[in-house]
Parts: sequence; C-alpha cells; structure tokens
Amino acid sequence: MRNDIWPLFSKTIYVTDVILNQDEESKLNKIYDNIEFNKARRNLEHNRSCEISKELQLFHCHPLTFLEEKIMERFHNFSKNIMHYDNNFIITNSWFTKTHKGQESMLHTHKNHMYSMVYYWGNEETEDNKIEFKNYNSATSFNISTKEKNIYNSDEYGFKVNNGMLIVFPTEVHHMILENKNNSIRKSMAMNLLPTGIIGTGDSAVELK
Ligand SMILES: [Fe+2]
Repeated sequence: MRNDIWPLFSKTIYVTDVILNQDEESKLNKIYDNIEFNKARRNLEHNRSCEISKELQLFHCHPLTFLEEKIMERFHNFSKNIMHYDNNFIITNSWFTKTHKGQESMLHTHKNHMYSMVYYWGNEETEDNKIEFKNYNSATSFNISTKEKNIYNSDEYGFKVNNGMLIVFPTEVHHMILENKNNSIRKSMAMNLLPTGIIGTGDSAVELK
C-alpha cells in the first residue's frame, strides 16, 4: 500500500556545509571586522534593522577566492546533481550582514537573480538563531489548525543557523533574519546568482555572459 507524498512544484531549498580551516576563517573574520556597514536600505524605516556591508561585491574586491570556490563547489552540486541544470551560474553580488542584539531584518526577497545563498560562520549557536522563510502563495485560503507543523502544512518555516551552514534558495522566496536575542553579533554572508550562457529556446532565448 503506497503512502507517498509528492510536494509537487514546491520551492527547493538546499542546505549544505562549507567548512573553513582556521587560517581561512581568520582571513574571513579580518575582512568582516574591518569593513564598513550601513543599515539595510530596504529596512531604513525599521529602527531595529540589521546592517549590511557597504561593499556589495565582496568576491570582486577582497581576497576571498578560497571561500567562493568552496561555496560554488556546493552550489554546483545542487545545480548539476539535484536540479540537473545545463547552464553554469555565477555569483554577482555578495555582502555581509551584521545583526546586533535586538536587531532583525524585514521580510524581503532579492530581485533580478535566480538563486540566493547565505553562509554562516563564527556565530553563537543557540535555538533562536534562525532565518525564516515565508510563503505568500498559499495553496489554500483555509486556515485549518494543525497538531504539528511540517513542510506540507506551513506557510512559514525557520531554519536554525549553524556555523558552516550554506543555504541556497530561489530568489523570489520571502525571508528574514529573526531577532538576534544573543549578546554577540549575528553575522552572515549573502550572495545572488545568475545563470550564464544561452537560456531558453526560440524567441524566448537569451544569452547571459
Ligand atoms: Fe536577504
């Protein structure tokens, strides 16, 4: 007797690990600790807003090739072996976030890209250090109560953040940094990706270089 569930046409979130050695982690921290931050622009009206680095192309401007290579190795595993995409991808924008105690981000999406990623390192690992995703295209307008929340019956889902964690998600998925309740700074690096080469066929084809 079958009892299969197929979450058809769902949003695909990929969670993997990128492990840095001590030398690599201290290089990353040195850049993080010496870079300038602004309040996130989309959160200007929000007085508990987290901050993002002024530099939005970290991989272009700082010696972080070791990190980009490790992250792209994991992304390619996702794009080639799970999604079976023919095209390659590149990271366009890459920036740091800095969230002090009591700060959070607003719910937002990233525009003009296909995938986004967020990488975590050097954070206090507590239960409430989370990134939350939210679905505004609910499959139903019925608000039926549930005994237990799972990925089939939820329109919001929070991932507990671990050091070394890399999360890949479609750019259009709403997400937010939940309030940092720790005394230490919550840090992450966010990235956007575009596919390259010829995309599509016929009169819909486009080439991105
Ligand atoms: Fe974001």
